[in-house]
Formats: sequence, structure tokens, C-alpha cells
Amino acid sequence: MTPSAALSGSTTTATAPSPTAATTTVAPDLTTLLTFAQTVAADPDALDRLALHPTERTWVRLDGPGGSEAWLIGWPPGSETGWHDHGGSSGAFVTARGSLSELSLAMPLPSSGWRSLELEEGVDRQRSLPAGRGRAFGPHHVHQVVNPSAADHAVSVHVYHPPLPRLRRYERSGDVLSVAAVETQEDW
Ligand SMILES: [Fe+2]
Repeated sequence: MTPSAALSGSTTTATAPSPTAATTTVAPDLTTLLTFAQTVAADPDALDRLALHPTERTWVRLDGPGGSEAWLIGWPPGSETGWHDHGGSSGAFVTARGSLSELSLAMPLPSSGWRSLELEEGVDRQRSLPAGRGRAFGPHHVHQVVNPSAADHAVSVHVYHPPLPRLRRYERSGDVLSVAAVETQEDW
């Protein structure tokens, strides 16, 4: 069961007091997404739903706040995502167990019309996210996430709004970033 404690109160609705009443769901902001991820990450019962594999990443889908898409992800030692974006969705993620490392780019990328570009000097960012720590990100965020441990699994909670329509995967060679593939929901 999706951790109800994490979902309650995270969807804002407004109902007009008339016979023509309509319910409007407000898109969750970054604070709401990050709070959801933090709440699930602190819920041992929710985390225990995820089975871990010795060498493969594993995941369980959750219902996020306000119609968002959420995932519990298990990271074997040394596993990583590769560089990718989130198809224009905003999101947040929080490490629940173990520790993750995020590499990201502090520059907006053109949304379309390119296959390869040279990154500007000094755009690389790296942050370590031990259990309990996370971050929110906007619709143009490009990153890769790594479990740098040689011995320990990590578990994290991720949430995206709107639900991921697609994502682009990138290859990186030095300062050159190239679009490698575009994945849609059918691919995962
Ligand atoms: Fe990501």
C-alpha cells in the first residue's frame, strides 16, 4: 500500500459551495514534492516494500501528491543512472538508506534542436546525499545519480510532476554532451 501518511494533505483541492461545484487539483510545487519524498524516506514500512537485488537496480511505483509519479529505487553498490533529464518534469528525490552522489550541470540546455553541445567551463556540480538528504529540481535539470559505495546498497525516493512523459539519455565525453536516446514510458 502506498504510504498514506505521505499522501495525506499533499493534494490541494478547492471546491466551490454551489450546485455547480468543481474540484480543482493544484499542481504540487517543489516543496510539496520534496516533503513527500522526505516523508516516505523516513517511513520504514514504506521502504520495506522494496526488494533489493545484488547487482540490479530495483523499483516500486508509488502514487505521489497531486497526481505526481513517485518511485522507490534500490541501488546496488556502484550502480548509476547515467546522464539524463526528466522530459520537462520537475521533481525531487531523497536518500532513505545508504548514500548517493549526484552529478549535475548548472546550466540550462536547449530544450530541442540539438544532438551535441560543448559544456561551459565550471558547470559541473557534485553533491553527496546521505540518508535523510535530498533535493528538488526544475524542469530542465540534467544529472546522473550514483551509489558510490563498494559494499552497501542505497534506497531513495523520487517524485516527478507531471508524471514523466519521456526522458533523454546523454553520453558525455569530456565537455561534450550528446543526446544518446529518448525514452518514453513504454521503455521502462
Ligand atoms: Fe533523474
